[in-house]
Amino acid sequence: MTRDPPIDPPHVFPADFVWGVATSSFQIEGGAAEDGKGPSIWDRFCRQPGAIADGSTGDLACDHYHRWREDFDLIAALGVDAYRFSVSWPRVRPSGSGAWNERGLDFYERLIDGLVTRGIKPYLTLNHWDLPAELQDRGGWAHRDTVARFVDYALGVNQRLGDRVAAITTHNEPYVIATFGHESGQLAPGVRSRAAAAQVSHHLLLSHGQALRALRAAGCRARLGIVLNLAPVHPATAHQADLEAARLKDGQLLRWYLDPLFGRGYPRDVIEFLGADAPRAEAADLAQIAAPMDFLGINYYSRSVVSAAGPWDPRSGGLRLTEMGWEIYPEGLTELLLRLHRDYPVPPLYVTENGGAFEDLLADGRVSDGDRVAFIASHIAAVGDALARGVPMAGYMVWSLLDNFEWAHGYAKRFGIVHVDYATQRRTMKDSAWWYRDFLQRQRALRGESRAAAPAEA
Ligand code: FCB
Repeated sequence: MTRDPPIDPPHVFPADFVWGVATSSFQIEGGAAEDGKGPSIWDRFCRQPGAIADGSTGDLACDHYHRWREDFDLIAALGVDAYRFSVSWPRVRPSGSGAWNERGLDFYERLIDGLVTRGIKPYLTLNHWDLPAELQDRGGWAHRDTVARFVDYALGVNQRLGDRVAAITTHNEPYVIATFGHESGQLAPGVRSRAAAAQVSHHLLLSHGQALRALRAAGCRARLGIVLNLAPVHPATAHQADLEAARLKDGQLLRWYLDPLFGRGYPRDVIEFLGADAPRAEAADLAQIAAPMDFLGINYYSRSVVSAAGPWDPRSGGLRLTEMGWEIYPEGLTELLLRLHRDYPVPPLYVTENGGAFEDLLADGRVSDGDRVAFIASHIAAVGDALARGVPMAGYMVWSLLDNFEWAHGYAKRFGIVHVDYATQRRTMKDSAWWYRDFLQRQRALRGESRAAAPAEA
């Protein structure tokens, strides 16, 4: 089989740098009502007419609930160090706060044992968006009680699974949950209220901080942190109005989360912009949000370009776009990482998601996704550049292991390095998967390590 010539980044990464692949529960598991799982806000949202572009649901998804062994063999074949996945809260505690579902916990126990026996470090996320629907009926993340429910959930998961996982992430992308779930309503639970969105962001941050303290008090030995979606924000032009709009967006997307996490409180410009919609907080909240973190996860896909005149069209920027219509801009990742290191006392940083949706064609058992190989290689190089300039980079994880349910886009957008035929559930390693495996082998060889993963050819 001929493959694209390797286009490796010109860096040798340290031996303890963590390489991984990532997924999330709702996007791959299926088993939507199996073994006692309760409905999540996403199970419900998918049933709203028009909510999902292709009218699909997560009922079956990649059927990972039954096919996890096969999927873990793929992960092992890649030779990665780590697998980032999430626990479905309504699978382990169907109503969010009542009885625990032992069969749900058993599933994640099998997953974690399956990873550990294959020598893969489990990176567990507690909240990758699939809140129990019953908690939404009681106000969801806009309701302060959900903070305590989340801390309870975190402690229960830790008690059963925490001893074998390398890391626990509280939330995945609080900005997206707040802004797209509660302000624009494009994602579950589909609320449209700026005040609700602001309150949700505060409760997510507060529950993160409280969960970290509670987990540490419970003796949790996993490394603890949060995952933010971040991007450098660029003005569309050098005009004053665009500069100001970009500054505000930087406040909303980055500083709104980073400032309180690092003990600085909410940024004044965004508070002023929100006016009466600013979140209500209690006196001790900000101190609780600033609980020390062991790591910070960053999901990076593109830069953000802002125009005061309204939404900016990425097609006008002259850069190549992915199938999502996002600009391919790896240098933005280096820019972002340097800025984080400069402006905040950051703990070790992981790129917890990075990847691209491209139009993939499965022909003769092969997907020649050279675009994705180039995307991943160039972003790994961007991480290497940041590392070489002193940023404490600790790991990089590809989004995603598998093609999966891409939220409001349904199954139309494919991010996997492994192709999924949804009619048969057949998995096929794309060229990007082979490249990632071979790249990791070449890294080990460059470091003079003998540990060889799978043989060089499939
Ligand atoms: C991120 C999500 C992840 C996936 C990628 C493409 O915002 O965390 O689940 O959908 O985007």
